[in-house]
Amino acid sequence: MSIILDHVTYTYSEKTAYEIKALDDVSLSIKDGEFIGIIGHTGSGKSTLVQHLNGLLRATSGTIYYNGQDIYDKDFNLKNMRTKVGMVFQYPEHQLFETTVFEDVKYGPKNQGLSDKEATNRAYDALADVNFPDEYFDQSPFELSGGQKRRAAIAGVLAMEPEVLILDEPTAGLDPKGQRDILNLIRRMHESSGRTIILVSHSMEDVAEYVDRIIVMDEGRVFLDGAPDYVFSHTDLLEEKGLAVPQVTYLMEELRAKGIPIEGQPTTLEMAEKEILRLHKAGVF
Ligand SMILES: Nc1ncnc2c1ncn2[C@@H]1O[C@H](COP(=O)(O)OP(=O)(O)O)[C@@H](O)[C@H]1O
Ligand SMILES: [Mg+2]
Repeated sequence: MSIILDHVTYTYSEKTAYEIKALDDVSLSIKDGEFIGIIGHTGSGKSTLVQHLNGLLRATSGTIYYNGQDIYDKDFNLKNMRTKVGMVFQYPEHQLFETTVFEDVKYGPKNQGLSDKEATNRAYDALADVNFPDEYFDQSPFELSGGQKRRAAIAGVLAMEPEVLILDEPTAGLDPKGQRDILNLIRRMHESSGRTIILVSHSMEDVAEYVDRIIVMDEGRVFLDGAPDYVFSHTDLLEEKGLAVPQVTYLMEELRAKGIPIEGQPTTLEMAEKEILRLHKAGVF
């Protein structure tokens, strides 16, 4: 099954002086189990795009198919879809509101109509999935560190057992270690559950390292779409848009320009290390 965007255009404040076309004829197909990174400048339409995927925003024109069904059909159950396509907003701690972390995580499943017991089980599982320490379960979410707040907010969405998990800049504002922890957690969630994950990020390094497919947005349009090595082989195109490829890709390109026969398009430190070792063994240096 899949999510298909078919010529989706979205305009904020349509027919007013403040009209802004935030999405411009976007067509995409997202398959089950994909781990996708969405990158692009601030204002390129990333958040607007992902808010269409769970029906929070309604396309001005074009349509979206969720598992083959047009989500704008009048008999389509949008409320049900919102629980299947879970969204962790940017700065998700602003969504925390219950008196304790545990109650906060239980809120989603309870709202889905599960019994108190089932919701409790879901909350335990979700908090365990994000490695949330037991001793903080009964703490106010507002007393947590930045990283713990993110985990609690992610657990709140996971507790609804979504088929698709969307995270809008989940590492924004965290220190480097906090960022790594959250990204590693997301990777583990992808590997263990196989659910579709859509990660909005502005870090080329992060998407190169973690995702299988990168969608580059520019001025509300899909500018590039493909595997990291494909997307990052378009250095010139990306630079024209003021975007960059990962630092390590630049380094490997410089070595290639100096006549070293680099194979492929290394986009992570690990890939670069492998390639350099291969060349070393081959006696290149
Ligand atoms: N609530 C809103 N009202 C009006 N314009 C908006 C709103 N949210 C975003 N925009 C505009 O839509 C465009 C895309 O924004 P957004 O989807 O937030 O981009 P990104 O997430 O890539 O930074 C920008 O020009 C932004 O200013
Ligand atoms: Mg955004």
